Amino acid sequence: MRMRAAVLEEFGEPLAVQEVELAEPRAGEVLVRLHACGVCHTDLYTASGADPSGYAPAVLGHEGAGVVETVGTDVASLAPGDHVVTLFSPQCRECVHCLDPRTNLCMAIREEQNKGHLPDGTTRISRDGEGVRHFMGCSTFAEYTVMPEIALAKVSPDAPFEHACLFACGLSTGLGAAINTAAVRPGSSCAVFGAGMVGLGAVAGCRLQGAERIICVDLSPQRLELARGQGATDLVEGGEGAVERILELTGGFGADYTFEATGNVAVMREAVEAARMGWGLCTVAGVAGRGETLDVVPRLLITGRRIAGSSFGGVKGRDQVPALVDRYLAGEIDLEPFVSHRLALDEVNRGFELMEAQDGIRSVIEFS
Ligand SMILES: NC(=O)c1ccc[n+]([C@@H]2O[C@H](COP(=O)([O-])OP(=O)(O)OC[C@H]3O[C@@H](n4cnc5c(N)ncnc54)[C@H](O)[C@@H]3O)[C@@H](O)[C@H]2O)c1
Ligand SMILES: [Zn+2]
Ligand SMILES: [Zn+2]
Repeated sequence: MRMRAAVLEEFGEPLAVQEVELAEPRAGEVLVRLHACGVCHTDLYTASGADPSGYAPAVLGHEGAGVVETVGTDVASLAPGDHVVTLFSPQCRECVHCLDPRTNLCMAIREEQNKGHLPDGTTRISRDGEGVRHFMGCSTFAEYTVMPEIALAKVSPDAPFEHACLFACGLSTGLGAAINTAAVRPGSSCAVFGAGMVGLGAVAGCRLQGAERIICVDLSPQRLELARGQGATDLVEGGEGAVERILELTGGFGADYTFEATGNVAVMREAVEAARMGWGLCTVAGVAGRGETLDVVPRLLITGRRIAGSSFGGVKGRDQVPALVDRYLAGEIDLEPFVSHRLALDEVNRGFELMEAQDGIRSVIEFS
């Protein structure tokens, strides 16, 4: 079939929205009609050429929500009409990691996905007979996409697509960092560095876990106000003095749980320093630049602080994204403040500009 899609042709150039060809889903694959898709830093990071593992031509986008149109052979868990959220982090339910509750890092299709292929090593997208690669296994800056069944979470049809798509990446990452990775205990103190989509999700996750005190740190007063709306009890201006302020607010000890959601290694260090001696757990969600390292005084660890990393919030996507969406539908999370701009696919580059200007939390592409 023919469809419109935003293609990364050349690194550092705007995406080119154009018609491309999409082949039928093969065994284990599903054709999804997209209804909404968030524009994320990772798309821009790849488009800019800064990501050394990036490839082109490719259809970008990975924060999609839509409806199953048709399914290939051997697809058992999805049927036409199902509402789905795309998962750049799949869940095969069979590999050694899927069978272990300690991690969500499914091993089933990693290698081919990293190359921009579907699991059988080929692409479904093409142009003039030449393959166009799939980005993060998703390619959701497009009217339709073909994805593996194991990379789609079936969610309630009651969730509006523009909110459902937020669960495809940053929101679930932040929520999961607090709920899964840190498993925040009720009554505890938390400090979240960064109030973008991931940090705000972590603030909401700490609140859902019953944290008593949630300190949010950011450079932007507007973003800190959004954090208050998600349950932050104390707002702290980022930069010099932020760690001291957190220590003051926590009786001189530091927070029981800290979260880093900026991608800045200096802030990761602050998040370790702001964790309480004895049992403070620092969860790192931000993605640092290639080659950057985290510099921590070992004494901080000897005295009981721990550091954990979290990819997609430790969320096993097919099992847990539907449950998170249900909590949103039950009124436990307010997503309206996160959708700052609604764009047409043709305006995708505007979404990048808005992100660079830090204008709002998420621009969402809506497909008519
Ligand atoms: N682990 C994962 O699976 C996963 C998934 C999605 C995103 N991420 C990463 O998470 C990070 C955050 O993503 P996002 O979409 O929320 O980004 P974002 O840019 O919207 O938010 C980052 C926030 O950090 C704030 N900040 C910058 N310097 C600061 C400082 N010194 N102190 C306090 N706050 C500071 C910024 O003002 C901004 O509000 C990125 O590194 C992203 O790549 C990781
Ligand atoms: Zn993303
Ligand atoms: Zn697996």
